[in-house]
Amino acid sequence: MHVTYRRTTEADIEAEHAVFVAAEGELLERHGFAWADPPSADRLAPGRRHVLRTDGERCFVAEADDGTVVGYSGAFVRDATWFLSSLFVHPAAPGMGVGRRLFELAFDGAPARRITITDSIQPVSNALYANHGLLPITPILSFAGEVEIDRPDDLRSAGLDGRALEALDLAGYGFDRAVDHPYWQSVADGTLWRRDGAPVAYSYAWPSGRIGPIVGRDGTSAAAALRAELARGGHHVVEVPGTSRRVVEMALSSGLRLGARPGSSC
Ligand SMILES: CC(C)(COP(=O)(O)OP(=O)(O)OC[C@H]1O[C@@H](n2cnc3c(N)ncnc32)[C@H](O)[C@@H]1OP(=O)(O)O)[C@@H](O)C(=O)NCCC(=O)NCCS
Repeated sequence: MHVTYRRTTEADIEAEHAVFVAAEGELLERHGFAWADPPSADRLAPGRRHVLRTDGERCFVAEADDGTVVGYSGAFVRDATWFLSSLFVHPAAPGMGVGRRLFELAFDGAPARRITITDSIQPVSNALYANHGLLPITPILSFAGEVEIDRPDDLRSAGLDGRALEALDLAGYGFDRAVDHPYWQSVADGTLWRRDGAPVAYSYAWPSGRIGPIVGRDGTSAAAALRAELARGGHHVVEVPGTSRRVVEMALSSGLRLGARPGSSC
């Protein structure tokens, strides 16, 4: 198969979704994990469109001779941090160097700090990223469930405020996410959490029950924000880096269950 590469356009999003479902589905099924309900194109499109708009020069597709999209990649840069947000190659084109080329196109000119989240059951991507300096050192734990828990009595909810979000992003991520907040606010409900009047955390709650991102001034504040979100009730899904000790402890003590799906690492 002869493959060429070009920048992604919004017209490619549907074809990218087909590649994503085929690639991720094959990986999960090969490891015995059923994937009965893959996300629809409509559910994935807003996130992909957002990255295309902010970082279109880091988004690429691989095309076969007949114009079929057989793979795609995407990354974004915030301050001096590069994050690989997607890399998928159709199972019909495996092991031909398509994934490596797509990765390198998105990686070109990346600033010094380079990170991603990858499936721990996927040796190919873990090896590819590690060979470019992105070592899989932090587990991501997936929790899910419906719990009964009281709101923390020291947090008050407040409207989102740009300056408070910026300070929290610098404390939590180490980089500014001002361009991402409008996107999150278009798909999820955001809350700023104050303690004694001071902003100490923010969180987003999605209609699907997913909670995230949660960002705190410190681990205790992030854990309290998770508790406040869980106290709203309903079924929740949340992914937590294993190094966020207080948040992991909160997830477990609240009664959330570790998910059955394969874990990720970053
Ligand atoms: C992961 C994926 C993108 C790789 O794409 P691909 O086109 O098959 O990969 P490539 O042919 O470019 O090979 C990637 C590199 O990994 C290397 N590799 C493969 N398996 C390896 C292993 N077990 N250990 C070490 N290196 C390995 C290959 O040799 C190649 O390196 P090279 O180019 O220096 O020889 C593709 O398999 C895919 O989409 N999988 C399903 C979805 C997925 O897991 N996406 C990643 C999400 S994090």
